[in-house]
Amino acid sequence: MKILKNFYIIRLNVISKLLQKGEHIMTFNPLEEKGMPLEKQLRNWHQIVAKPYKKQLVDCYTRTRQILMNGIEVEGWGFKHQFNRFMSEVDSEDKANISRLGRIENQQQMTCNWLGAADQSVLETTLGYEQVAVDLTAWLAQNEPDKYVKETFNFGLLEDFDHLYRYAQFAYMTEGVEPNDIVQNQTDVIVGRPTQHHHNCNGLRIRKHYDKTTASPQTKVNILTVLSGEQQTHNFYAEHGFMYGDHVLRETYAEIKDVEEEHVTMYESLIDPSETMFEKALLHEFTEVCNYYTCFEDETDEEIKKYWEIFLDMELGHLQLVAEMFKKYEKRDPEEVIGSEIIIPCRFQSQKAYVQKILEKEVDKRLAPEGEYYNKIDEIPNDWASYPVQERLAEISAPSENCINLIETYHDRDIVEANENLKNKEVSILEKGLQKKAVAHNTVMPDKLQKMIDYHEEREKQKEEII
Ligand SMILES: [Fe+2]
Ligand SMILES: [Fe+2]
Ligand SMILES: [Fe+2]
Ligand SMILES: [Fe+2]
Repeated sequence: MKILKNFYIIRLNVISKLLQKGEHIMTFNPLEEKGMPLEKQLRNWHQIVAKPYKKQLVDCYTRTRQILMNGIEVEGWGFKHQFNRFMSEVDSEDKANISRLGRIENQQQMTCNWLGAADQSVLETTLGYEQVAVDLTAWLAQNEPDKYVKETFNFGLLEDFDHLYRYAQFAYMTEGVEPNDIVQNQTDVIVGRPTQHHHNCNGLRIRKHYDKTTASPQTKVNILTVLSGEQQTHNFYAEHGFMYGDHVLRETYAEIKDVEEEHVTMYESLIDPSETMFEKALLHEFTEVCNYYTCFEDETDEEIKKYWEIFLDMELGHLQLVAEMFKKYEKRDPEEVIGSEIIIPCRFQSQKAYVQKILEKEVDKRLAPEGEYYNKIDEIPNDWASYPVQERLAEISAPSENCINLIETYHDRDIVEANENLKNKEVSILEKGLQKKAVAHNTVMPDKLQKMIDYHEEREKQKEEII
């Protein structure tokens, strides 16, 4: 603990200084802060492996911050390796510094990921991952200045929202976990755009990219933030989906992992591919700075907050280093790429009202060619490029539909957590979200769902009488 304390003493304490002065966050220009020097950032094993939170006590949004920051560090680490693999015209000392940065990202990643509780099951963590996706994407959509990017966020949002619902069925059946044990009443759990309809032709998933010369830094940071989260979600399912014996659950992990792969494709395609590696390096560090800044401001767990603060100081140091490289190699001002103000990319808070609005309005939206969208299923042509993909993948059955068939035997109906108003709309949302074509044979159709709901109500009344 003493070593950790000494480590804190060397920090610049930027946020604390600002808060004491009562300055508004928008006056904070990360490029003007020196941050922690790189040579002081290497930590020992004791510092790297932090004390994990207790899964019974942790606030759900502390967990979402921990999950998201792990994803951002994985991306930060991976990027340094890509940089050194692809960049030939960089001095050996600069290459070494990029490599040193990668090592620090790797240490930070361990700390973030290993804050997670050892007894938190894969399914419980999975519900946390999908809560990140829903509440983060909903926040980003409402704070995104580019209309097209916002539409893409809203589109992805309804898919992760449905993933949360499918996994919640298994958490209940396999481990007796209620959705609110994890999402703590902050996020609704109910059918979204059905997962079987998330499988698309790759060509359609590639969206229109922003123009790096006109896009705002907010847009760039928003995209890199959600992209990092989606990539890590994909990786988590890839590494953990096999850890259950239930074959339908394993297949469901495979199915949803494949959708996360599409989400990575979709979000990365929004980025201007002509960005240079130095521009990307700046954006990566800036995104880390902005996210840790927000985590620090929002965190309620005092122990975990210390890590957000120290990592913010480290990231300010990273930003300084790559900003100097940017000036040296590109002879431009870093503000051209990232602006001069901090950005808030990940304010975790309940987004129920916004998500319900998008759900009711856009559950029938689908991808169209040239980066456009069909606003209604009826507009899709018969030769839509995603139909063959969906037909092939679900030719035996759709695992994400099987889970609703299975839950009927456990609970008479699906597990849903939402207010009465939204619950009453579930069947009509399903009706609106289901396609007519390329529908798996084992699909729970709206009339079947209605029967399940009615039967469940009847049985609940019977149970009350018996008690
Ligand atoms: Fe980092
Ligand atoms: Fe998802
Ligand atoms: Fe996703
Ligand atoms: Fe970094």
